[in-house]
Amino acid sequence: MAELTQKQLLDIVNTTHTAPGNPRVRELTGRIVADLFKTIDELDVSPDEFWSAVNWLNRLAQGGQTGLITAGLGFDRLLDIRMDEADAKAGRAAGTPRAIEGPLFVAGAPSSKFEVRLDEGEPKGELFVMEGQVRDVDGKPVAHAVMDVWHANEKGGYSHFFPGMQPYELRRQIETDAQGRYRFRSYLPPGYAIPPNSPTSELFEALGRHGNRPAHIHFLVVAPGLRTLTTQVNIPGDSFIDDDFAFATRDGLIVEIEKNVAPAGYESLGISAPFTRSRFDFVLQKALNASEALPLTRMERVTA
Ligand code: BEZ
Ligand code: FE
Repeated sequence: MAELTQKQLLDIVNTTHTAPGNPRVRELTGRIVADLFKTIDELDVSPDEFWSAVNWLNRLAQGGQTGLITAGLGFDRLLDIRMDEADAKAGRAAGTPRAIEGPLFVAGAPSSKFEVRLDEGEPKGELFVMEGQVRDVDGKPVAHAVMDVWHANEKGGYSHFFPGMQPYELRRQIETDAQGRYRFRSYLPPGYAIPPNSPTSELFEALGRHGNRPAHIHFLVVAPGLRTLTTQVNIPGDSFIDDDFAFATRDGLIVEIEKNVAPAGYESLGISAPFTRSRFDFVLQKALNASEALPLTRMERVTA
């Protein structure tokens, strides 16, 4: 092959093909490669810097940590902001705000109707009940909506990712009752921190950033004909509430906490003493098409 300038190389890389391929993939790859060529040239990236980055990417993927980096570099929230903007433009900005799914969802959690305990044995934090209703944007209760709930344990770890936890610990699926109601018992989780001594923490240390998330609980709420809602609520009072490394906290999603709630009526959740409660209703938009109502997480959508 002839000698090439940088520009000639970029042109060949981005135009060479023997079949049409996928035009969208060609368009996106072309842009990303062009931007990276430009970065390497303008910031004078050395071969050692380039191959260190490739080595880091390899280790990141081998450790299953790509989803930590997408969140920490703002991509997960960016996608939410773009969907919010599209909703506002289409006049359908309504209902409970969306919030990032994060990389720690696990499908197949045990399912219950109306109420469930997420924890087992003695509470490993402040005993807590969260309850409320699922409604559509017209205020109609949604019976038999299915809600996945998941949160971290007392050390900030998620089952299936954190050693020593039981399968599906602090993960459950709840089907709302005829009035659209749900409730669950658990304990108030602390925040989450990225794993130390990992490819993710290496990057955050190099960036001079922390890798903490404030205390939160995740939800995926689905019902026929309604737009699948992925969101999370925050527990007030956490020092990272306005400094989430994943940029995911939102004003409309910080729950109110009631202390010393009388136990009457909560016996079926094994509660016999005053406890901490939060009431939170989920309001789902109407789905405009079948895709919006799919009961799937972000990765299930693209791998189904
Ligand atoms: C979380 O929800 O816990 C989470 C979100 C993004 C990255 C890491 C963790
Ligand atoms: Fe989380």
